[in-house]
Amino acid sequence: MKLGCCYYPAHWPEDWWADDARRMAEMGLHHIRIGEFAWSRIEPEPGTYDWGWLDRAIETLGAAGLSVVLGTPTATPPKWLIDAHPDILALDRDGRPRGFGSRRHYCFSSETYRAECARIVEALATRYGQNPAVGAWQTDNEYGCHDTTLSYSPNAAKRFRDWLAQRYQSVEALNRAWGTVFWSEEFRSFDEVDPPNLTVTEANPSHRMDYQRFASDEVVSFNRVQTEIIRRLSPGRDITHNFMAFHPSFDHFALGRDLDIASWDSYPLGNLESSWFSDAEKARYLKTGHPDVQAFNHDAYRAAGRGRWWVMEQQPGPVNWARYNPAPIDGMVRAWSWEAFAHGAETVSYFRWRQAPFAQEQMHAGLNRPDRSLDQGGKEARQVADELKTLGALGPCAKAPVALVLSYEAQWHLRIQPQGAGFAWVVLAFEFYQALRRMGLDIDVVPPNADFSGYKLVICPSEPMLTAAQLDGMIASGAHVLFGPRTGSRTVEGRIPDVLPPGPLRAKLPFKVNRVESLRPGIAPMVLVDDKRLSGRLWREQIETALEPWATFEHGGPAWVGQGKLSYLATWPESELTDAIVQKLARSAGLATGHMPEGVRLRTRDGVTFAFNYSPETRDAPAPRDAKFLLGAAEMPPGGVSAWRFA
Ligand code: GAL
Repeated sequence: MKLGCCYYPAHWPEDWWADDARRMAEMGLHHIRIGEFAWSRIEPEPGTYDWGWLDRAIETLGAAGLSVVLGTPTATPPKWLIDAHPDILALDRDGRPRGFGSRRHYCFSSETYRAECARIVEALATRYGQNPAVGAWQTDNEYGCHDTTLSYSPNAAKRFRDWLAQRYQSVEALNRAWGTVFWSEEFRSFDEVDPPNLTVTEANPSHRMDYQRFASDEVVSFNRVQTEIIRRLSPGRDITHNFMAFHPSFDHFALGRDLDIASWDSYPLGNLESSWFSDAEKARYLKTGHPDVQAFNHDAYRAAGRGRWWVMEQQPGPVNWARYNPAPIDGMVRAWSWEAFAHGAETVSYFRWRQAPFAQEQMHAGLNRPDRSLDQGGKEARQVADELKTLGALGPCAKAPVALVLSYEAQWHLRIQPQGAGFAWVVLAFEFYQALRRMGLDIDVVPPNADFSGYKLVICPSEPMLTAAQLDGMIASGAHVLFGPRTGSRTVEGRIPDVLPPGPLRAKLPFKVNRVESLRPGIAPMVLVDDKRLSGRLWREQIETALEPWATFEHGGPAWVGQGKLSYLATWPESELTDAIVQKLARSAGLATGHMPEGVRLRTRDGVTFAFNYSPETRDAPAPRDAKFLLGAAEMPPGGVSAWRFA
């Protein structure tokens, strides 16, 4: 378990570098990520490389005993490159080029850009691939950030047509799959198909879904151009990419297969402010971040990295990019770092070593202030480094007892066809995740085709395009499996299944969905479960079945149907209903559960249980009475961390 930071040597006078490197090492940092936006300094003129400064920066860091994570600079193609090849620019939904002057202005489908990226990565990996100070690589930076996955350029259109030809083989098959007969949209050849933008009203949902799948594949193949070069020229070094919280625009599991390590950028306060949470939640966790957001992403990226993952950018103080940018309470940067380790992180790296006095992110804190003095985040990073030495190494996380299925296909489909405002997959999934965490459970967040063996409980929040193979994998595990609303409601082409929803699930759980309705806020479908009357929201399905329901709607009809270990929910449950359902299932699955005090969360790694207090009040750690604390104590202040060895 190591610490690191992101460093931009080109932002600082060269005569500061050695002192920076010495202080980093002294503080206990190890992995130093550099270079990911430095194209204009590496290649100031077309074909003219200036390696001198980068040679010296890497040497200085290496000489201090630090290990460099070298970023490829492809998130920021320089001005001369864009001017020479304007077709590198992505086009937005309205067909406008994305202008030069910030970052991520490129189109994943530009063949010119892919060739230019291959060239710069080849040059970098040739020069530094065997350098002993370079320990790892990061490709690009935050694919998809600033809404940049989908581009509607002529390059994208061309590659989309090829992609469709591969997928459907004949245009007749495409017409059938999409139902293009509907509005006289039938195509005579793949060449007639355009990207689904600039239409008068909504484009065909199957067309949009395929465009999203195509765009996701483009990100994966774009990244692969780089990983293949780096593997060839820099063998033995780990390759990673830094993902973002909850980011839905491409399949991270697919991209993760080309990496050695998944990493993600954790900005707890920025993410809370910028996500869907209520004003009350934003106010309550203003200075700590939401108790489950970091954990959810840690658990998802652990799966994307097949067990190996880092936090590449950890928020060190106030950021600059949310609507409001509060400062964390003292101790919170430390707590976030420990929480990542508790969820299995190999490394936590802070963004950034020092606050920049200029340009877009000058209001973003670093571990140090612009005048080189240590800021609060830096003090806490040092504390974590000291504590890591005392605690010693921990092995990886064991398989959790519960799996929550994260589906990109579900996210895309439900964005394209929400049918009720606010029907967002991520919110539904996160609410199940929270309910599990309120019970103190460890969770794995896994893809729909995961190896489910060994899980006792599987929660599939909603998988509209569920396939028979995915279903078989879940069932074969012998776990209790809960499917959320809309599961099995579409074929992979986007049709309503001939047998009606839940499609393939009907063969295993005999019911069918005859009608669905979405409901505006304030209209709550009430559910009777045991002797309680609890609320759903937004969604209600009318189910026909001979099975005895596990819960019913107050106004009649099954709300939760089940048989043996499989069950299906016909509404979106509010939190008390979610708790009731998940608790019953956990009990049937024989899981030992607790009840976490508000804001307190647990995670176990290699026999050590960690507790975190996200609430603004002091809380008791849910530790055994005779626990011997490795970190903290029985009483946890706000932002407190306690850890004890699990008997
Ligand atoms: C990340 C990005 C960094 C920096 C940071 C600021 O999204 O990767 O380059 O912009 O945000 O919080």
